[in-house]
Amino acid sequence: MRIVAGTSSPLLAKRIADELGIKLAKATFKRFPDGELYVRVEDIDGEAVIVQSITSSDDLVYLMLLFDALESCNVTAVIPYMGYARQDKRFFDGEAISIRAVARLIESYAERVISVNLHSREAASYFKKLEEVDAMGLIGEHYKGQDIVMISPDLGSLERVRRAAEEAGCEYDYLEKRRIDAEHVEVSPKSLSVEGKRVVIVDDIISTGGTIVEAAKILNASSVEAACVHAVLASNALNKLYSAGVSRVIATDTIERAVSRISVAKLIAETVKREFS
Ligand code: R5P
Repeated sequence: MRIVAGTSSPLLAKRIADELGIKLAKATFKRFPDGELYVRVEDIDGEAVIVQSITSSDDLVYLMLLFDALESCNVTAVIPYMGYARQDKRFFDGEAISIRAVARLIESYAERVISVNLHSREAASYFKKLEEVDAMGLIGEHYKGQDIVMISPDLGSLERVRRAAEEAGCEYDYLEKRRIDAEHVEVSPKSLSVEGKRVVIVDDIISTGGTIVEAAKILNASSVEAACVHAVLASNALNKLYSAGVSRVIATDTIERAVSRISVAKLIAETVKREFS
């Protein structure tokens, strides 16, 4: 078996390879002057494990080219961050269900698919060969024993935050919107008071940072930090977060960023081992 590191996940692929004690395949990626992409993978047959997060459309094309280059192999696709998962239904007539298209593409090539915390149950439901890894416990472990309160930005994310908080051994709550009158909405933690406390807002994804910034604004805490699984960090999000007073941002390495302080390598390696045992 060889691990094939895609363009978006070189560090995580190496960490997974080290956990499994197997080698990385030699892979070459380039872009032609007209923008088209090129892939070559040398010295591989039998079992191949591709590690490639989908953080952009180029990542998706590189993944497709990797599948083709590895056509003689049994391929496991490790997609640590499954992009396109937020378009998991038709919000307006005529829209593509993007994650369904992506799922169909990936599963037409891969024998099995491993991913970390897909955005929603709906998104996961389009896959037939998916093994989903939960990184919320790792976020909890990172904060274990610390005097914090974990806050979910909404009720929808509360279950995820509960898993992190139980591992950390801390209290948790979610932000609830209460309508005061036709023009005013009040947002506050549902049951806990966070006054004077160190708060960590936990979410699956930080994309533009808007959700965390809005949450941080209304919390009357001594400090506000943010933790997430997938640090998409689009549109200068880190800048926005720090300017809004968020004192620290941490994430896993499903997307490789400066804030990726927690690695999902061991979790993924264990899942790969389980799949092949
Ligand atoms: C929403 O359903 C997700 O759980 C995240 O809260 C959202 O994707 C974060 O996006 P942004 O950082 O752009 O507010």
